[in-house]
Amino acid sequence: MNNDIKSILVSEEECQEIVSRIADKISEEYRGRRLLLVCILKGSVVFMGDLMKKIHIPVEIDFMKVSSYGRSSKSSGTVNILLDLYRSDLPETDILIVEDIIDSGRTLSYLVEYLKLKGARSVKTVTMLDKPSRREVDFVPDYRGKVIPDEFVVGYGLDYAEKYRALPYIGILKPEVYEK
Ligand code: IMP
Ligand code: MG
Repeated sequence: MNNDIKSILVSEEECQEIVSRIADKISEEYRGRRLLLVCILKGSVVFMGDLMKKIHIPVEIDFMKVSSYGRSSKSSGTVNILLDLYRSDLPETDILIVEDIIDSGRTLSYLVEYLKLKGARSVKTVTMLDKPSRREVDFVPDYRGKVIPDEFVVGYGLDYAEKYRALPYIGILKPEVYEK
């Protein structure tokens, strides 16, 4: 285990089980539709990569980037779009936004409204992790991997100051790592 990790919250094996379960549900519910997975960079890339392999209906993929936490472990509260979706086929497209973790809920509640206004046929959300105790706005994802307590976690795409994204499990960071 990495030295900066206090404990493992979701093992590599459990991550794969979670993704398989969600992928089966999505495959069933989107059968016969034009499904576009929109990955929110960068934290969701690992989840997106695993999820798209396990969904057994045709999918298209795209990417958006929004302003993030920067170097701190606290939310800034505002959402800025740094990389937008440029497509002319949104009226025929069912979008599923793929997110790593929901904290305040601000990012996803904003993006869902934004993509609906852009004209997508439907917009739903899937998140690997959810910290409902941290909500600042009402938001419930359509598909959810695991509910976790209010701890700062890294790995499986999630970072602290751009580190730890490649860890194959999700772990709780030692507080002294971000308090120093
Ligand atoms: P929200 O808009 O507050 O829901 O922010 C969600 C975003 O905050 C996620 O996409 C992550 O990039 C980041 N985030 C929230 N909690 C954590 C965490 O525990 N570790 C790493 N990133 C986090
Ligand atoms: Mg993110």
